[in-house]
Amino acid sequence: MIHTQAYAKLTQHIEPTQNKHLKCFFDTDQNRFEEFHARMPGLLFDYSKQKIDQPILELLIELAKESELNEWIEKQYSGEAINITEGRAALHTALRNIENPMPQVAEQWEKMQHIVDCAHSGQLRGFSGKPITDVINIGVGGSDLGPLMITRALEGDKLPTAPGIHFVSTLDAHQLQELLNELEPETTVFIIASKSFTTIDTLSLAETSKKWIQSAAKTENATMHHFIAASTNVPKMTEWGILPKFQLHFWDWVGGRFSLWSSIGLSIALHLGMQGYKDMLAGAYAMDQHYKNTPFAQNIPVLLGLIGVWNTNFLDRAAQAILPYDSRLKYFSSYLEQLEMESNGKRTKRDGTTVEYRTCPILWGEVGPNAQHAFYQLMHQGTEKVMADFILFKEDSMQNERSAYHHNLNIANCLAQSRALMIGQTSDNPHQFYPGDQVSNTLLMDKLDAYHLGMLVALYEHKVFTESVIWKINPFDQWGVELGKRLAMGILDNIQTQNVTGLDSSTAGILNAIWNKTVEQDK
Ligand code: F6P
Repeated sequence: MIHTQAYAKLTQHIEPTQNKHLKCFFDTDQNRFEEFHARMPGLLFDYSKQKIDQPILELLIELAKESELNEWIEKQYSGEAINITEGRAALHTALRNIENPMPQVAEQWEKMQHIVDCAHSGQLRGFSGKPITDVINIGVGGSDLGPLMITRALEGDKLPTAPGIHFVSTLDAHQLQELLNELEPETTVFIIASKSFTTIDTLSLAETSKKWIQSAAKTENATMHHFIAASTNVPKMTEWGILPKFQLHFWDWVGGRFSLWSSIGLSIALHLGMQGYKDMLAGAYAMDQHYKNTPFAQNIPVLLGLIGVWNTNFLDRAAQAILPYDSRLKYFSSYLEQLEMESNGKRTKRDGTTVEYRTCPILWGEVGPNAQHAFYQLMHQGTEKVMADFILFKEDSMQNERSAYHHNLNIANCLAQSRALMIGQTSDNPHQFYPGDQVSNTLLMDKLDAYHLGMLVALYEHKVFTESVIWKINPFDQWGVELGKRLAMGILDNIQTQNVTGLDSSTAGILNAIWNKTVEQDK
């Protein structure tokens, strides 16, 4: 990035931009909204509340061109092995090519369709012959967050024949136990969702669930009716005891955090029906086409990514808030935390050298109206410069007399907050002084349904890719999660043998405290 001509030119804009308050950008340009928004069917992207002007925007586009973003997009879509550290393609876009699907993708859709049909018609039965009423998705990270976020956001679109869909991800087992207390083994099916089928979190929960079924059925074989799996690892699924008809496949060219579009999305398809699931794919596909074919100046994911780079690398902002003004998107920021920070939270460039600049900011978020009563204080009067994405839907989905009022109130609050963050407030009373000058984007979508949600998720995926290209990093690996996993297995050995040999004094001290031993006793 820093060796491009555009970078050098952009640095000359830093000081004047820092010294100009965001509200002055509006004072000096009445047409700002017209100039700094982009549209595609179903979505309006307003970035006028960013500290940019035309020359800066042109230079950012130049930066994208000099970074060969077009070529990288082409490489991604054509299936080149751009995940260089793992020697894999990153072809999740192929999973939502509803116009011309790859045969192996279409084959998995058929398999999913069959399971969905059986579950909805009462043909999916447990060991006692009773129809299945509940499905528990066991998975973590990308095998949990996407399906969880989508099914909860589209709770209202659940088909009447759909089973109850539940999610379990944490290896402490409280989530699982709560569900096992509530549900009946004979009418519960589990989906083991794991790209690798080696994740200890998922496998430990699956084992406990297996025992629950076996002890209720009083036979070991009963499990075959109760476990479906989605994975790239066919031998491991078979070894675990998953029947071939319940084995859903996907491929190593689908990254874990991009896997909701694969058979990992079975829980979504069970909830919405296959048609709803495909509507979601269609929305993502529309965004894929937009990303691939639209000039950068109107390309929403490209603009979103470039604005992120401008704020992060030039205007020194290291925190990104995600603020959906719709309580149905309560899991959206957790989903984006993984997507953005697991993808771009890196310091090593593709060529193995260390970056000389900041990469992924810390991303956090909450449903907007709740966040207003929690952390907005920091954004309005704290010392941190942040960037915020407001997400708003045009449609009042409830459409009744009462909901119209709430809908308007919600819109008013969303717009009031981005405006307050921008303009701030002068006051003689220092406690009532708001500096303002906090930048934000607003994403205005037509409605919250499977199609538009697919679009929204794909938008952020492409934003992440855009930034990774500028930062010259590989967004598709996640080596940073390995060390902790390995150390955990070592510490598990320490725990099982009750010794602290080789551990640092903090880790040893905590273990001793758990065992109520003093350090002296241990010696
Ligand atoms: O935490 C690392 C990670 O590999 C994520 O990238 C992935 O989404 C998650 O673990 C779960 O992995 P799997 O689907 O292989 O169980």
